[in-house]
Amino acid sequence: MSPLHSASSTEPRTVDQDAQPRIVRTVAGVREELRSARAAGLSVGLVPTMGALHDGHLSLIEAARQRCDVVVVSVFVNPTQFDEQADLLAYPRNEERDAALARQAGADVLFIPAASEIYRTGFSSTVEVHGLTDRLEGAVRGKGHFRGVSTVVCKLLNIVSPDIAYFGRKDAQQAAVIRRMVADLDIQTQIETMPTVREPDGLAMSSRNARLAPAERERALALHAGLRAAERLAAEGERCCARLIEEAERTMASYAVRPEYVALVEPDSFEDLERLDAAGLLLIAARVGQTRLIDNLALWATNRSPLH
Ligand code: PAF
Repeated sequence: MSPLHSASSTEPRTVDQDAQPRIVRTVAGVREELRSARAAGLSVGLVPTMGALHDGHLSLIEAARQRCDVVVVSVFVNPTQFDEQADLLAYPRNEERDAALARQAGADVLFIPAASEIYRTGFSSTVEVHGLTDRLEGAVRGKGHFRGVSTVVCKLLNIVSPDIAYFGRKDAQQAAVIRRMVADLDIQTQIETMPTVREPDGLAMSSRNARLAPAERERALALHAGLRAAERLAAEGERCCARLIEEAERTMASYAVRPEYVALVEPDSFEDLERLDAAGLLLIAARVGQTRLIDNLALWATNRSPLH
């Protein structure tokens, strides 16, 4: 066992270097790997990732392990969903560490394709979910972001044909887009979303947290603090969404963080809410230094326990 630093936690995560899942790099290889499982009627779970695995990803793999006979984890830094070349180049990559962590969490197969395997010569198709992708992340990151996500997730679902695919709730709009795509295209995979995993101080786990300098790491708490401040105000009975948003923005300002957006939306349509009369989803995006972070929290009109 050797201690390696996890991507987002300040605590070292112990990695068993000997524990390795089967690594497959081609589409044909994954299908071959799963052939006997399918013939035996075993269920298959897929956890799509871009690597740099942290506890959030591991909770998805563990959830898949509990429900599925065979667990496939894909690790593919998908170039088509990056709006900034610098972001793509800076994205952390460590295959050995990912393989060991995935295995420990219960993965059987690791699918790690090269970009040329996913986007073969002549590749010219895309999948686009309309409407839902126009705003928030779609507006800030550009149309191509969700087009890149839906295209690659559609391909992964076609390649692996999982019974269940697992996604994190931190990327709430992404999860909604994928649900829409799966419903629209009659893809026979159940989409499960799992709660956001947080550092002890509340920062949502993200592969990008590793890029925060120590002073930025402190300021990054602005997102969680903003969400919690709005949640407290809602629990006190405030129903006006503009005031709840203002409260989140004011709290973030005290950390010297200006949000790219704070929105309070209906959780399925992602349409803006004026009043919090039932469930709402409060979404925040902000840059802390060069690092772009997102987070969200379910709010309720009544003082019920939060979703996550
Ligand atoms: O959330 C991610 O890591 C990526 O957007 C995904 C779903 C693996 C597609 O590349």
